[in-house]
Amino acid sequence: MKNIILFGPPGAGKGTQAERLKNKYQLVHISTGDVFRHNIKNETELGKLAKSFIEKGKLVPDELTIDMLSAELDKNPNANGFIFDGFPRTKAQADALGHLMEDKETGIDAMIALEVDDEILVNRLLNRGKTSGRTDDADEEIIRNRIKVYYNETAVLKDYYKERNKYYGVKGVGTVEEITDRLSAVIDQL
Ligand code: AP5
Ligand code: MG
Repeated sequence: MKNIILFGPPGAGKGTQAERLKNKYQLVHISTGDVFRHNIKNETELGKLAKSFIEKGKLVPDELTIDMLSAELDKNPNANGFIFDGFPRTKAQADALGHLMEDKETGIDAMIALEVDDEILVNRLLNRGKTSGRTDDADEEIIRNRIKVYYNETAVLKDYYKERNKYYGVKGVGTVEEITDRLSAVIDQL
């Protein structure tokens, strides 16, 4: 069983790469952003609560996010392993993930971070915003706020996993295929 955190700022390519790696390694992909958007679309209670945070590019509160993640794990009792995309984003979430994995007698094998310069991120997201319908891609200021939130609240998790010898950095610029190869090189040696 392999459990991998695919990490990086907004627009780094987490979703793009997770889709490819889940097929290659037979892992279940959990994107907390995708689950929130699904709930917003279906106007669930969770969706209503999360919407105002996401629209502003702010983090959804930890408790809501952790409960949701836990429910997603429980939906996949026979998984061969997970790719976490967009989770954890705070120390409280990382601690909770550790406990949830322990309860399932497993653990996190690696955090792999996609490294991309900010201006490339902004360009990618503005571009996607033309067609994605994502409210948080529609406005450059919201995009920049998401990147700021990443540096202020989320980037500290690199140290969290470095201290546990689980951290790997990978260059996130190049073709999609090249980046999959770089990520695979890390996963294959775990
Ligand atoms: P989330 O959905 O996780 O969004 P994000 O982290 O802001 O990142 P994106 O999904 O925009 O980017 P990505 O890294 O997946 O890149 P992608 O592959 O799409 O979160 C959204 C919101 O939900 C948060 O702001 C927060 O409010 C809330 N939330 C989610 N999780 C939370 C949590 N744990 N706690 C609290 N709140 C939470 O690629 C981006 C673009 O670039 C695409 O157009 C793609 O085609 C393109 N691209 C990809 N790779 C390349 C490449 N190699 N070269 C050129 N272009 C590329
Ligand atoms: Mg994504």
